[in-house]
Amino acid sequence: MTSHPHSAASGPLAGTVALITGASSGIGEGTALALAALGARVTVVARRADRLDALVEKIESTGGHALAVGADITDEGQAHAVVARAVETYGRLDTVVANAGVMILGPITGADTTDWRRMIELNTLGLMYTAHAAAPHLLEAAAGGPREVTDLVLVSSTAGRVVRGGGGVYNASKYAVTAFGEAFRREVTQRHLRVSLVEPGAVATELPLQNRPEVQERMYERYSTMERLRPADVADTIAFIVTRPRHVAVNEVLIRPTDQQD
Ligand SMILES: NC(=O)c1ccc[n+]([C@@H]2O[C@H](COP(=O)([O-])OP(=O)(O)OC[C@H]3O[C@@H](n4cnc5c(N)ncnc54)[C@H](OP(=O)(O)O)[C@@H]3O)[C@@H](O)[C@H]2O)c1
Repeated sequence: MTSHPHSAASGPLAGTVALITGASSGIGEGTALALAALGARVTVVARRADRLDALVEKIESTGGHALAVGADITDEGQAHAVVARAVETYGRLDTVVANAGVMILGPITGADTTDWRRMIELNTLGLMYTAHAAAPHLLEAAAGGPREVTDLVLVSSTAGRVVRGGGGVYNASKYAVTAFGEAFRREVTQRHLRVSLVEPGAVATELPLQNRPEVQERMYERYSTMERLRPADVADTIAFIVTRPRHVAVNEVLIRPTDQQD
């Protein structure tokens, strides 16, 4: 799907509206490009508005439709406001990719608990606020519309399935996503809102940059032993999930670089 052979107007997501959090870089940016190329009108959300504006320009230059909304989704009011903006602008909401996240590694002993709050407030609560705000609109769109099914994709991590040590609170923030997602899936699946969990291994993005230099050094040492995924690889997986026929729900995808052991 990476080459996106059809035009946006006739793609499998034509007539649908998507919202992607954390779209100013990495996986979110790649996903916005992929879904727009498949015909979705996309609302892209993050704090760096300049990056979002450049992304919108790129999508529109190839015939797509996109709206940039600068927001900090750790603020519940802002999370609700971005969803409202997307629905006001495009009239519906079919696909939400709750992707915004931060990873700050380090031992639990002696940790700066500010780092813990950043991860829990974004990776866990920010994702939950996004889902909560989007749920009524996704359920409404699933009841009528081009596909009669809608999607909430939660971007977790291999760290939401495997604890390697040295990143306990990142693990905790992502394990919580699994529990939340499965509970929500059971609640809404018979109303044709699909809830999917995507768990990438190492992806070449800006994610390491939030860490202290010595931690970054150890991360890049580990990455030097593998060919990391590219954002487009994960975007391709998300595009696959949200283009399945109505009766097919891809509940969970663990996607790692071939070289990655754990
Ligand atoms: N890269 C990996 O190896 C990897 C592996 C597994 C899972 N993941 C997960 O993939 C997701 C995306 O990460 P990435 O690798 O693409 O990293 P990234 O390039 O650093 O992207 C993170 C995105 O989140 C946004 N963000 C940060 N704080 C925010 C806030 N308070 N409100 C709204 N948006 C916010 C950032 O934009 P602004 O700074 O402009 O707000 C950025 O767009 C994360 O959930 C991460 O845990 C990544």
